Amino acid sequence: MNGPLIPAAPPSPGLGESFPEVLRRATGIAALSPSSHNCQPWALARLESRPARRAAADLLGCPDDGATVYLALAADRRRSLTALPAHTLEMRLSCAAYWRMLCRALAAQGWALVRERPHEAGGAGGDSRLPGGPWPRDWSLLWTAALRRTGEAAESLTALDAAARARRTNRGPYDDGPLAPELLGALARRTPAGGPAIAVRHLTSIHERGVFAELLARHGGIDFSHPAAWRETHSYIRWTPAAVRAHGDGFPVAQLFGPMSARQRLAKRIALAPPVMKVLCRFGYDRSLAGGLAAEVRRTPALVLMHFADDSPGLADAFRGGARIADYWLHAASAGLALHPLSVLVQHDAPRRMLQAQLGLSGRLFFISRVGRPRTAFPPAPRSPGAADHRTV
Ligand SMILES: Cc1cc2nc3c(=O)[nH]c(=O)nc-3n(C[C@H](O)[C@H](O)[C@H](O)COP(=O)(O)O)c2cc1C
Repeated sequence: MNGPLIPAAPPSPGLGESFPEVLRRATGIAALSPSSHNCQPWALARLESRPARRAAADLLGCPDDGATVYLALAADRRRSLTALPAHTLEMRLSCAAYWRMLCRALAAQGWALVRERPHEAGGAGGDSRLPGGPWPRDWSLLWTAALRRTGEAAESLTALDAAARARRTNRGPYDDGPLAPELLGALARRTPAGGPAIAVRHLTSIHERGVFAELLARHGGIDFSHPAAWRETHSYIRWTPAAVRAHGDGFPVAQLFGPMSARQRLAKRIALAPPVMKVLCRFGYDRSLAGGLAAEVRRTPALVLMHFADDSPGLADAFRGGARIADYWLHAASAGLALHPLSVLVQHDAPRRMLQAQLGLSGRLFFISRVGRPRTAFPPAPRSPGAADHRTV
């Protein structure tokens, strides 16, 4: 006798597929992760050769059997920001956000991390030798990990993919009405990726947002007046759609300043050129740009601040921090919220300490962002053709 016809639940995408196919899907999602200046500094390798697998198995204390897959994550120094000492931490946070999105996408297809370890010397200027080389000279090893198939999806790959596509930086105005406290509470709640080493705080009162806006107006101009930092930032501005396509990284100019006529764009292009900027800063252009940003902050309903309990975070802390940024941002995107990070006060110790003292924050602040419901939409920022690639070593 035939039973009632119950349609079978569609199988979770990725479950039961070969690891190369699972990895291809996961890197496609992870490549959408945020990075400072959209520099996309991550570099991923799958360790396949005998020497590479053996070296990784020894390093991680895992069996060198056919069921274990080994991955290594590095920072590509050719795509890393270097103008400020604080960029070392920012590159680690960016690579860690990518790693978190990658691991979530793998776990959503039934592959779980069983062991992982940091390589503290990695990062800008660090050790570029990875287990079982040879490796690209410009790669600095950050992380190695072993994974095994679990056969169960840790979360919905479809939902994760949708959140990764919805997530983006929006530098435009946000609705000024308050955000629901329950939503902010859910965003701030500790996740396994955060742990006790990381605290998340929202500034929602006019007074607290004012404290930040005041310091931003006073010190934020350094983004433009610091010659090396501005030269580097400026090199990531893409002035034409052709430049966006050719580079596949950086900031399309309309994402920084909104839509502009050809004449306005030309004026901005002249004003922002580093030699011109140097002169304009003498007349207070840097302070006027920082003042504009501070005014936007005052109109924003919430700011999120993340800080490490530890004053001098190591690589493992940075990885927890980047994971927290990724989780927070994906959750916010699923709830229709946008973020606009404002890193300048985090990058310079003196204003960072002032901000921490005024807000009573201990440890080290590592991320500040506007959070809200955006009023305008922007197309997604570009990704380079290699952003979703990996090497087999
Ligand atoms: C650690 C970190 C710091 C960032 N700091 C800033 C910032 O100070 N100002 C800004 O406009 N965007 C900042 N961003 C956002 C990046 O510019 C953005 O992720 C990148 O351009 C890619 O765009 P998307 O997020 O829309 O994919 C930061 C992102 C990360 C991960």
